Amino acid sequence: MCGIIGYIGNREKKEILLDGLKELEYRGYDSAGISILSNNELFTFKTTGKLINLETKCKDFTSNGFGIAIGHTRWATHGKATEINAHPHSSEESSIVHNGIIENYLEIKNELENKGWTFLSQTDTEVIVHLFEENLKSVENPLSAFKKTIDRLNGSYAILLITKKAPDRIFYAKNGSPLLIGINGDEVFFASSSTPLIGLVKEVCYLEDGDNGYINKDNFKTLKNVQPMNGEKISSQKDGYRYFMEKEIYEQHRILQDTIRGRILNDGISLELPSNFIDNINRITICACGTSYHAGLSAKYLFEREAKIKTNVIIASEFRYSNPIMEKDELFIVISQSGETADTLEALKLANKNNLKTLAICNVENSSIVREAKYSLLTRAGIEKGVASTKAFSSQVMLLWILGIYIAQNKNNISKDSIQKQIKNMYNSLKATKVNTKIHDRLKKLSKRYLHGHGFFFIGRDVFYPLALEGALKLKEISYLHAEGYPGGEMKHGPIALADSELFCVSLMPKHLLYEKIKNNTEELSTRDATICVISQECSDVADDVVLIDKYESYMEEFFAMMIVVQILALEIAIRLGNDVDMPRNLAKSVTVE
Ligand code: G6P
Repeated sequence: MCGIIGYIGNREKKEILLDGLKELEYRGYDSAGISILSNNELFTFKTTGKLINLETKCKDFTSNGFGIAIGHTRWATHGKATEINAHPHSSEESSIVHNGIIENYLEIKNELENKGWTFLSQTDTEVIVHLFEENLKSVENPLSAFKKTIDRLNGSYAILLITKKAPDRIFYAKNGSPLLIGINGDEVFFASSSTPLIGLVKEVCYLEDGDNGYINKDNFKTLKNVQPMNGEKISSQKDGYRYFMEKEIYEQHRILQDTIRGRILNDGISLELPSNFIDNINRITICACGTSYHAGLSAKYLFEREAKIKTNVIIASEFRYSNPIMEKDELFIVISQSGETADTLEALKLANKNNLKTLAICNVENSSIVREAKYSLLTRAGIEKGVASTKAFSSQVMLLWILGIYIAQNKNNISKDSIQKQIKNMYNSLKATKVNTKIHDRLKKLSKRYLHGHGFFFIGRDVFYPLALEGALKLKEISYLHAEGYPGGEMKHGPIALADSELFCVSLMPKHLLYEKIKNNTEELSTRDATICVISQECSDVADDVVLIDKYESYMEEFFAMMIVVQILALEIAIRLGNDVDMPRNLAKSVTVE
């Protein structure tokens, strides 16, 4: 989704901006631009498409000496992905970049048009820069004009503004969208996430909602809440893999070792939570979006079965406006890879407002969601670059499973023997995520038979139903083929009407959970001539194709082994279709608008 970079200093500003934007590229965007103010001249370059287009457009431009600069990658919300709609947006003497949505932009636009301002773009953002210049006419200094502008805005925003009226500073404002200020000596950087700042700055300040003002070389020392910048520069190498997604699929068995480190002990589960964490908790609500929602759905089955605690799972965008009933004895869990998803963050704020105990399951330390939640557990998957989430999902499911057993253990709902059995299954599940290259080769070959048809149904039961949803989501995200996940037993209540030889059905058939039931459901589809691809450790005579996984002793091991298969199946189909697997069309890695 949209990304922001800003810089105050003496270095070549174009390079700093382009390098920073490249670090944000994996999050998804459709146009980009930069503005540099140096020697009292304002230069702006914008293009559609990838950053390489922007690089080419400004290849002959250099800016020596001190200056201020802002850059942006845009994921279109208001107005198509055109060059004119790309940020920065400029007025006569100022330029702005913005993440988020200004909800009252039409009202402001009408007012400004009546005062003679002309708009070039269809964006909500352009109103901010013209309003700023309009306000400059009536107030004594740029800071007052900026604050007056911000006061007028409704919605979510992270904003950087530069103006010839104050060429030594960058004005900033944050509400609902993340924005950070990084400091290195007397250089100042801005970014919408920490990734571009790693390795560049020594200290960082995570701005809070409602923060606004300006930074120049003199006043940044007065910033509050400055903390050391942690983190290592992520590898931008694919290490021989064709795509980051492929690398991340292969990494899973390794990163899961980090997920469980210090949490699975010889005699039970230990988590970084206070010992009374689960006291007075009798029910759980899980709230998330996308893949994280699917991880949450699998947790419902695990929590209810193993910890015997009632669990409700809800999509964050549905939760927010549903006047949800929140009870005092409820634990509110949010799950998010990025820690920045707007709907999940807002749902969390709502739960906090209602004084619920809140817990974030997240992959990014210091993200907005981690900072907002009362408690947090990190999934430790490392930065995920492929837009289609893989290792984030497996680490979420593993951590939620651990949490389920932790709750069971602390509520005395589980015997010592059962804990030991669960721990053994966890270790074996981790091994089950090591990619078997023979299975990968089989999927590579098989993929050519699944490039057409009128749709896919992934079916599963119990915890394999969320996995079916996740398998279908992976496939549609990167292959653009229509795919749905469905509970096996529900197909006959409607979707079976679609069954014919051009309907592909991927059936998740675990030997250790409801095998006969899902087999019957698969047979019902086979009888109606659907093309069946079974994933199982058992051979199947109802299948057109079988992807045999290794032999496992528990259903969760089968879950993780099948997860690898559905991820690779989606990958290989998308590669055959010639799609950009890591940056699929229309998608963003981190969705910071509701
Ligand atoms: C976007 C991503 C998905 C992700 C979802 C939720 O749509 O493309 O891969 O599952 O956001 O993101 P989160 O960071 O909150 O897990």
